[in-house]
Amino acid sequence: MKVLIVGSGGREHAIAWKLSQSPRVTKLYCAPGNAGITKQAECVAVKAEDIDGICSIAKEKKIDMVVIGPEVPLSMGIVDALEKEGIPTFGPNKKCAQLEGSKAFTKAFLDRHKIPTAGYREFTDKEELKKAVGLFGYPMVLKADGLAAGKGVVIAADQSEALRAIEEMMGDKVFGSAGEKVVVEEFLTGIEASMLCFVDGNVIVPMESAQDYKRIFDGDKGPNTGGMGTYSPSLIFTDELEQQIREQILEPTIEGFKKDGLDFKGVLFIGLMIGEDGPKVIEFNNRFGDPETQSVLSRLDSDLLDIFEAVIHGTLSEQKIAWGSRKAVCVVLASEGYPGSYPKGRKISGLEAVDQDVIVFHAGTKYGNEADEDGKLPVLTSGGRVLGVTATGITHEEAREKAFANVKKIFFEGMQYRKDIGCIIKQ
Ligand code: AMP
Ligand code: GLY
Repeated sequence: MKVLIVGSGGREHAIAWKLSQSPRVTKLYCAPGNAGITKQAECVAVKAEDIDGICSIAKEKKIDMVVIGPEVPLSMGIVDALEKEGIPTFGPNKKCAQLEGSKAFTKAFLDRHKIPTAGYREFTDKEELKKAVGLFGYPMVLKADGLAAGKGVVIAADQSEALRAIEEMMGDKVFGSAGEKVVVEEFLTGIEASMLCFVDGNVIVPMESAQDYKRIFDGDKGPNTGGMGTYSPSLIFTDELEQQIREQILEPTIEGFKKDGLDFKGVLFIGLMIGEDGPKVIEFNNRFGDPETQSVLSRLDSDLLDIFEAVIHGTLSEQKIAWGSRKAVCVVLASEGYPGSYPKGRKISGLEAVDQDVIVFHAGTKYGNEADEDGKLPVLTSGGRVLGVTATGITHEEAREKAFANVKKIFFEGMQYRKDIGCIIKQ
């Protein structure tokens, strides 16, 4: 089978790495991909948001299956466009993609189906929201309704911060049309965990749990990022908690999809807050998480192509999904300045020194144009999150030590990473 992966991050590299192990995959393409993905796939220079371009490439290369990584093309309706061309595609259609594309859509869904989540209210009028400032007390959680590259959530400590955020979202429109509607939520406390699930329209099957580290600095300090590292499985998941999540969240979610006519096929990523009164949904995303995927897929024993096919054909309940007992840790190496502005084009060294059994998933990397003294093209930084050094071990500790020992072999100017990936951090 010829498979085309859409996207260019560490998540897409992990998907390419895993799919390349399938004996039934004869050729892999990635649009647009990155320097690391060229090891597993032929990269084609078409942007993930260029839906017409992706459809043309899929037809031209006679692709048998397309796998969509990022949320933006999903919200734009890339799955509907490819399916119209008769090309089987892994990912939810435009209607279902609202579960990530609109916070208000998801909150209404959760409310309607009595799924535990923070209380909320939505606002489209700036003055009305200003009058309601402090609605659920402080800190005040304000969320731009639409997609904002993971930056649309503000947790305002007090009234002046909240008023500033309201002015930025609804007055200055820093998130563009994504901030025309703002959702205000109750502030939840506890430990966050991510749960990625395969969904085929009929059943929802959770993958192994993972823990993401969203803030830039150690100890969960500083601004939010796309994710600075993960480990899997999460150490906070007990059998009792898993049962609670299944009964209170997963089952009503799949039933809700059916009742609401949402034929969701793909990955549902559930952001959870595990508090004293049980698990609550913070958010839904409609795709694999980045960098959760790097940790989770490195522990998958089954053939990922079989699972993708079962999701597309609605036969997931018959599909066996086997996980290895090894634990995984992924440490993200980011550019200086990230999540703010950052330089690009810095040379990355030491990649060849990494242990054979450690996988360095590439995110923001590209090849330079001129060969080095050794005749090879250098790998350069080209994004905020650059690499995800991913190791497995019999214990969490072994995976952690191996990941950090290999991080030390890699270098680029201004490289930053968190040193506490794999440790439990309480909010
Ligand atoms: P989201 O994009 O909705 O996942 O929000 C980004 C981050 O903001 C989450 O990972 C949490 O750390 C935090 N957050 C979002 N909603 C809440 C909430 N209601 N209470 C506390 N923290 C929240
Ligand atoms: N790691 C969080 C996300 O993928 O949105």
